[in-house]
Amino acid sequence: MKKVAIVTGANRGLGFATSAALARMGYKVIMAMRNPDKAQTEINALKMKDLDVIAMKLDVSNEKSIETFCHQVIREISVVDVLVNNAGIFIDDEDGGDSNVFKTKSSTITKTFATNTLGPFLLTQKLLPLMIDGGYGRVVNISSGMGQLSEMNAAYAAYRMSKTALNAVTKIFSQEVLDKGDILVNSVCPGWVQTDMGGRSATRTIEQGIKGIVWAATLPKGGPNGGFFRDGEKLEW
Ligand SMILES: NC(=O)c1ccc[n+]([C@@H]2O[C@H](COP(=O)([O-])OP(=O)(O)OC[C@H]3O[C@@H](n4cnc5c(N)ncnc54)[C@H](OP(=O)(O)O)[C@@H]3O)[C@@H](O)[C@H]2O)c1
Repeated sequence: MKKVAIVTGANRGLGFATSAALARMGYKVIMAMRNPDKAQTEINALKMKDLDVIAMKLDVSNEKSIETFCHQVIREISVVDVLVNNAGIFIDDEDGGDSNVFKTKSSTITKTFATNTLGPFLLTQKLLPLMIDGGYGRVVNISSGMGQLSEMNAAYAAYRMSKTALNAVTKIFSQEVLDKGDILVNSVCPGWVQTDMGGRSATRTIEQGIKGIVWAATLPKGGPNGGFFRDGEKLEW
């Protein structure tokens, strides 16, 4: 039986490349995204390569959309082996060029948390029980070095706090799955990657960025649980 992986924010950037990589490894991949219609050409290109991918509509910042998505997954697929919480936003710049914490609006924090933290929390809360039922699961929360408390710096407060909190989500669910089968929940930082979010000056290619994500999504039994990693190497929280 093929393993089923869900990747959020799968229409572009790290999410698209992770989906393609997992499909190439033999997974059935549910590519969750806000606008499946707009990504038809790219998805068809993957299907033409005989990759087993399906696009499903999901806005991770909208609880109703998460509920509808999870119901659809349970009804139509009924199994989830891997969840990659990849969808994310970085909108601190919208409050002023230098992203100074004294300019950060509460609406920026709320929006950022809805997408980067609450969305992954709710998806994990709804889909982890399926993994526990199946006795197998890998949850990968795409975090960032910008969320590390040990490296915390000024500016970009909304994004930084959302990723620190996402790391807490990782830790909490990782403790919940102890002794519940072969289930591992981890955070991964992809490094600074050349995507729409990372920009052109970023130091890593998308292929380099997804390596650690695919590693965490495909960890063997007995692999790490409740950790934070970049390229498979442990990071400080
Ligand atoms: N690039 C980096 O340097 C870097 C570094 C550290 C961590 N990360 C993290 O890596 C993840 C992927 O980032 P990326 O670099 O690939 O960024 P990206 O190219 O900007 O892609 C972001 C993805 O998230 C999706 N998304 C945003 N809000 C969403 C929502 N409410 N519901 C569903 N999908 C939503 C976007 O979909 P739309 O097309 O609909 O907007 C897009 O597919 C993010 O969590 C990011 O924080 C990136």
